Amino acid sequence: MKILSGKELSELIQAELAGEAAALKKLGCTPTLAVIRVGEDEATGIYVRNKVRAAAKVGLHSEDIHLPASTSQSELEAKVECLNSDPAVHGLICQLPLPGHLNEKRLPERIDPLKDVDCFHPLNFGLMAMGTPRFLPCTPAGIIEILLRYEVPVAGQHVVVLGRSNIVGRPVAMMLGHKGIDATVSLCHSRSKDAAQLMRQADILVAAIGQPEWVKADMLKEGAVVIDVGVHQVPDPSRKRGYRICGDVDQADAASRAAAMTPVPGGVGPVTITMLLKNTIAAARMQMGGPQGGDTPA
Ligand code: GUN
Repeated sequence: MKILSGKELSELIQAELAGEAAALKKLGCTPTLAVIRVGEDEATGIYVRNKVRAAAKVGLHSEDIHLPASTSQSELEAKVECLNSDPAVHGLICQLPLPGHLNEKRLPERIDPLKDVDCFHPLNFGLMAMGTPRFLPCTPAGIIEILLRYEVPVAGQHVVVLGRSNIVGRPVAMMLGHKGIDATVSLCHSRSKDAAQLMRQADILVAAIGQPEWVKADMLKEGAVVIDVGVHQVPDPSRKRGYRICGDVDQADAASRAAAMTPVPGGVGPVTITMLLKNTIAAARMQMGGPQGGDTPA
């Protein structure tokens, strides 16, 4: 079973991005990413710290804007507005999930589409859906980067995507079916009939359902390539810290049938962050007057 290391792939892509960032700096522009987070959720704090750290590694500037849990919707939107109009900020994201009293569904519409490096704004999501993207959403772009750079055959293959979230399942299913990628895609969710039968036909399985170790070996076709998007903390008294990190796939079990698998941690996560940096560099270029995307086929 081959390990598709996202960590190693990220090192490679980040080295390429560092060159691009250095070239922009020579032109007087330091690509800058602003990350808003609200409240004290520990996992959110870790994700943001990883993004800020990775940005620094490739020579980007970043701002970690930490707002209190008591922040109101209008205060949050005012902060977004302020960063939208700051010419020194090229990429702007708001780390999800937000505390329950805030409306995270409407927030992407508030972000300037030219700074929307998560690709959550309906305009950018629509451009992506039509195959003429301005930005690509980070986790789906990371998954495709892993498949292509590890030379996993994708064109004409049957990919089964588990989960239909707007962040991962739905956009990755769309992108995999686009011209140039050319997979045949099944998008499964909790109400899918015969999901087990479909999964056993998958040449490539993308698990993004948010259930720890849900995918077992007997759900896989022999020789399948498995992309595990989940990240969960599960109790483990044998560990000093009392928990371990796992994905949506029971990897110890699935290893007996899969030909290749992304590990958790060190799989999709690091490449997702790398794609965010790539989008931030693209956003900086656009804001310097470069092409704005949206009119060339993906
Ligand atoms: N929460 C989980 N994934 C993401 C992501 O890709 N972007 C943001 N902003 N929040 C997230």
